[in-house]
Amino acid sequence: MHASQPRCHRVIAIDGPAASGKSSVARELSRRLGFVYVNSGAIYRAITWHILQKKIHPEESDRIAGALRVAGITCRLQDNESRILIGGVDPGEHLRDDPVNKSVAGVSQFPVVRQLVAKKLHEDAQSHDLIVEGRDIGSVVFPDTPYKFYIDASPEVRLQRRAAQGERDEIAIRDRADSLRPVSPLVIAKDAHVIDTSHLTIQQVIDQIIGLLKKMGLPI
Ligand code: CDP
Repeated sequence: MHASQPRCHRVIAIDGPAASGKSSVARELSRRLGFVYVNSGAIYRAITWHILQKKIHPEESDRIAGALRVAGITCRLQDNESRILIGGVDPGEHLRDDPVNKSVAGVSQFPVVRQLVAKKLHEDAQSHDLIVEGRDIGSVVFPDTPYKFYIDASPEVRLQRRAAQGERDEIAIRDRADSLRPVSPLVIAKDAHVIDTSHLTIQQVIDQIIGLLKKMGLPI
């Protein structure tokens, strides 16, 4: 599935598996470049939180679709970051709760959910330059952007990073589900720059990305 990409501002796509360091890199890049930071995973997490609040099972795609039709999902800007409101509530503090960690990959596999998130991201790109992190940003949501990065790290390093955040998160299970799903799986877009961050600091990753963006002609 390739989402059609309407005319939009500049988009820097940062994709990669769980706990690869995408968020830290994307947030710092947004600060350096002045682009708005959008964490697409947070939108999938917010939807999952809402579904669980409504006592809908994460495999019931019809009920999920029904709940999303009436949910009212909006994104607002706060400190140059896009924050999601669902049913008028900002679920921010619950996005990394255990039940959300466990169910988000299941909820994210449904085309109705993915199309909704892609639509929100396209809307954001109508009005702002964006740095968007996720799984399918360069491959599906913004296939035409020239600025694509795939941030990776070894499974051991990613496990350590997630443990250091004090979270119980079965990232191997989530990675497997994200890579194997039929719709918009986690893949390396063919024109993405791959950066293995296993032995790099955030600053070194940022420096590499900024160097590559300059080479690509982005005026920064
Ligand atoms: O922070 P972490 O890398 O652990 O995950 P996240 O970016 O918060 O994403 C949580 C989950 O949302 C992923 O495991 C995917 O199941 C889903 N997701 C997706 O399907 N597509 C995206 N573009 C972003 C996230």
